[in-house]
Amino acid sequence: MSEPHRIDGRRFRQVLGHFPTGVAVITGIDAEGNPQGMAIGSFSSVSLDPPLVAFMPDKNSSSWPKFRDSGHFCVNILGSDQESVCRSFAVSGGDKFADLAWKPASSGSPVLDGVLAWIDCDVDVVHEAGDHFIVIGTVRELDAGGNTLPLVFFQGGYGRFSALSLAAWESDLALQMRSADLARPHMEQLAEELEVECVASAIVGSDMVLLARAGRLESSALPTAVGQRIPFEPPVGTAFVAWAPAAAQQVWLDRLDKNAAPETIEAIRQTMAEVREAGYSVGRGHRWHAEAAKALSHEEPTLHQDETSEQLHQLIGMLPPDYESPKAASGDERTISTPVFGPGGVVVMVLSAVVAGRRSLAADLAFTVDRLRSAAAAVTEALHGAEPEGATG
Ligand SMILES: Cc1cc2nc3c(=O)[nH]c(=O)nc-3n(C[C@H](O)[C@H](O)[C@H](O)COP(=O)(O)O)c2cc1C
Repeated sequence: MSEPHRIDGRRFRQVLGHFPTGVAVITGIDAEGNPQGMAIGSFSSVSLDPPLVAFMPDKNSSSWPKFRDSGHFCVNILGSDQESVCRSFAVSGGDKFADLAWKPASSGSPVLDGVLAWIDCDVDVVHEAGDHFIVIGTVRELDAGGNTLPLVFFQGGYGRFSALSLAAWESDLALQMRSADLARPHMEQLAEELEVECVASAIVGSDMVLLARAGRLESSALPTAVGQRIPFEPPVGTAFVAWAPAAAQQVWLDRLDKNAAPETIEAIRQTMAEVREAGYSVGRGHRWHAEAAKALSHEEPTLHQDETSEQLHQLIGMLPPDYESPKAASGDERTISTPVFGPGGVVVMVLSAVVAGRRSLAADLAFTVDRLRSAAAAVTEALHGAEPEGATG
């Protein structure tokens, strides 16, 4: 047997960087009672019975020795919106908790606000392993909170997880842009004929993004702008999911508050079935639209994206589960949306007719739906797409 190669440190890092990890902040309380913490990628579950987890601090870490003797630590799993939290815990020294809200877990170790999940532990055993320690902890208490996606670290960069079933929608921005381009003449014609604003949107990441717009409404209560993002969370976005495979529908449903009642989930599923059967979804209610308009009305949308998306998240959470159902007609229909299919029956884009102010689409509903669906069918055909088999719409 030949001697093992001497492994160059840079190459070790470069090759190991091909393994993506989540990111966690390990927190604890030092001897003076102050919170301490460090960012790590080396977190793993170890054993179910007894429940054990592990992480691996560098022997040079200045934080770990500060709370090691307390006998406790808490693993805080970061969401994709917490890259800045990660960065502040990935430096040595300074008050890493200066601008952070947290509360103590039962061990006293900090649980950071807004984390995806946390696992409070007692130190079980610490092994030495080269220039690192392997810390094994017994789980005391744990919970999973937010409905965001995890922060992911891969080849030295931050990213976010995207389920393959969702990636089908967002994987091909070129296709989405092309379909928006193909849709443009239809959108313009529709906007003029129906005196509505016609918008095309697609899924990008965890948002619905407005790709194109035709027809400017005089007294527009909805400040629609290309590039505008609305969180893709139930009960909004049904037209994107009603035709999707069950696994993709589940990914969308999982974005609901984890305390959502089973009846709410059932009502959203029912709405999906109704949207699929009718071939379109609606958006109702003057008041909700006015509130959403307020949240979207920043002059510099990109500067306020986090704030806007939080406000929209709250507003979406207030909507009834049948909000987009074509059956729950209220006479106050503000938007009508219908899907454009790409090859393989994937919804690449949704076309919507939007009205503003005091106007409603109720009086012209059947006609608007018919025209919108013909436009969507024409774009679907130009894309060589097709509605998935078994669809009844
Ligand atoms: C994504 C990511 C993963 C990391 N994983 C680890 C790890 O597993 N173990 C470790 O000791 N440091 C890890 N670090 C580096 C520490 O966060 C960094 O060394 C920090 O400065 C430690 O601070 P301290 O001196 O306060 O302990 C990671 C950093 C990042 C950005």
